[in-house]
Amino acid sequence: MDLGLTNKRVLVTGGNSGLGAAIAKAFAAEGARVAINYLINPKQSDTLVKEFTAAGGEALQLMADISDPGAVEAMFSAIDDAWGGIDILVNNAGIDGEYGFGWEADPDAWGKVIDVNLKGTYLCAHQALKRMVAQRSGVVLNTTSVHEVIAWAGYSAYTASKAGVSMMSKSLAQEAAPHGVRVLCVAPGAIRTPINQAVWQDAEGYRDLLTKIPLGRIGEPEDVANIAVMLASDAASYITGTTIFVDGGMTDYPSFAHGG
Ligand code: BGC
Repeated sequence: MDLGLTNKRVLVTGGNSGLGAAIAKAFAAEGARVAINYLINPKQSDTLVKEFTAAGGEALQLMADISDPGAVEAMFSAIDDAWGGIDILVNNAGIDGEYGFGWEADPDAWGKVIDVNLKGTYLCAHQALKRMVAQRSGVVLNTTSVHEVIAWAGYSAYTASKAGVSMMSKSLAQEAAPHGVRVLCVAPGAIRTPINQAVWQDAEGYRDLLTKIPLGRIGEPEDVANIAVMLASDAASYITGTTIFVDGGMTDYPSFAHGG
């Protein structure tokens, strides 16, 4: 199936590692021009850019802290300079934050998660939507999580940020729809990436994780990347203002498979 993404101008935040890298690769494989945003590990974005350009594609790497409005504005200007604008924003960058119950957590660390995951996602959407509304086309795909609906003790900032991104996306989708622009979310479950390495590398942690996943396996980054590319393409031109879960059934209340 040709997704029609050839030459589309795509920005993937946090595109140098984990899910972001898999998403960036999937867009590059579809012939899109891919800008990789990163904050740390420049080597990883360098490697990806070399890989994409060696395969005949166009790619950029842009260092920016997405929670900094000035840095985000400069990043979008750099994409304007290179490609004259943007067609698809994948807001992927995010952090889990430190484990800690609400009454123990450091309020500054709590706020940092909101700054990156919620405010950073908004700041990038703000810049992208300005351009997309003016050109009357575009897609903003925000990465949330099963934790936009599943509570998670010790991670109240993370769950609040992801639920926040979900509702923000629905509101932005209402605003942007009359202008030919879609805004939606993809919500991964447990995917094998560095963010949760401590869990899937630990035998007991992994066993416990599997009890939470009806399909009985951890997700691979490609499970999410394939859907992300599809959702950003015209194959999904009738989907906006909603979240697509890619979670092996984690949100299907696996503990209710028996009893109740
Ligand atoms: C988190 C992971 C976690 C997964 C399932 C994701 O949003 O980033 O650390 O394993 O949700 O709980």
